Amino acid sequence: MRRFLVTGGAGFIGSAFVRLLLDAIPESEIINLDLLTYAGNLDNLEGLDPARHQFIHGDIAAPETVHQALPDGCEAIVNFAAESHVDRSIADCAEFLRTNIVGTQVLLDAARAKGVKRFVQVSTDEVMGSLAEDDSSYFTEESPFAPNSPYAASKAAAEHLVRAAHHTFGLDAVVTRCGNNYGPRQFPEKFLPLMICNAFNDQSIPVYGDGLNVRDWIYVDDHCRAILAVLEKGKPGAAYNIGARNPRRNIEVAESVLAALGKPKSLLRFVVDRPGHDRRYAIDPSLIESELGWRPQETWESGIQKTIQWYQENSRWIERTRNNEYREYYRKQYGDKGAAS
Ligand code: NAD
Ligand code: DAU
Repeated sequence: MRRFLVTGGAGFIGSAFVRLLLDAIPESEIINLDLLTYAGNLDNLEGLDPARHQFIHGDIAAPETVHQALPDGCEAIVNFAAESHVDRSIADCAEFLRTNIVGTQVLLDAARAKGVKRFVQVSTDEVMGSLAEDDSSYFTEESPFAPNSPYAASKAAAEHLVRAAHHTFGLDAVVTRCGNNYGPRQFPEKFLPLMICNAFNDQSIPVYGDGLNVRDWIYVDDHCRAILAVLEKGKPGAAYNIGARNPRRNIEVAESVLAALGKPKSLLRFVVDRPGHDRRYAIDPSLIESELGWRPQETWESGIQKTIQWYQENSRWIERTRNNEYREYYRKQYGDKGAAS
């Protein structure tokens, strides 16, 4: 058997990766370590074979927990566990520093101590900051770090620790940097599922600032297939940018979702901008395409269709997710947000 430790595997992308790995590698066994924060959800793991997937409720920043969770002969750690929402990091970044930075170091130390063969750090294009609005530049693997939000800064710090573990201790580590994921089971604090869930109820959709910020969108399973390719074939010490060549303005994304749902544009409400809001992300995925032969399988149209269909068929998941804690978050985040000037 091939044994893996996946962290944050009850979240949006981690749970998609767990399903993919179990399908793609029939001889794999996964230990899934997740703290089940507001974003972690055991419903995301429904139906997995308990003989090959073991869930452990625990904290990646707790060395003893990680040590106990790490199976003997573990082939790789794939680290998804993180605080992942930019707006929450602006409100309070303490948990971001603890999980994203300290937690990553705890995992790196455990990997070395137990002789884990490979460490995959799931990072983000946000470590490279913002591209200028009106040029045609892209993020490449050589783009300098310029994280702008506390979230991005914590992910950049984590990457530095991974790099240091590789350089100083020879740990076989690889990093992936992806853009904005969308797909089933994404927590509805993020723009795309927030729009879909609000629109279902004819509730207004908050668009920050002028709505012209650009994000580079990728269907979650395409991101997971790229991580799998990096896990299997990535060069030790390398970082790989992952993107589907799909940069779009927020307003265009909102309008296409409303059109697909048959809802009016009048639901859009322009509100005060996010502080420090990065203007444009656009990823050049040439390296992973040429070196590892990865290509996205979904188009924007097919991915959005699948995503909307999943939310339409999973109203119970939405109800359970949009609980009292979520409603309180929503009130604080949007309750007194004025209109954009
Ligand atoms: P998510 O917020 O949906 O899930 C995060 C998971 O981590 C949750 O299950 C949560 O319970 C778990 N977790 C949080 N703190 C933990 C801790 N201390 N110990 C153990 N588990 C903990 O996030 P996501 O969108 O699935 O993102 C997963 C990873 O991918 C993150 O590292 C994120 O930075 C990165 N990423 C996300 C995107 C995106 O568009 N969502 C894009 C690029 C990279
Ligand atoms: O680029 C990768 C990153 O993408 C990941 O590292 C992060 O974990 C993930 O959360 C995402 O970050 P963003 O800040 O880009 O995603 P979010 O869904 O929060 O916002 C997408 C865009 O939509 C962004 O320009 C802000 C805007 N927005 C967001 C929300 C929540 C709105 O206009 N209104 C909103 O209510």
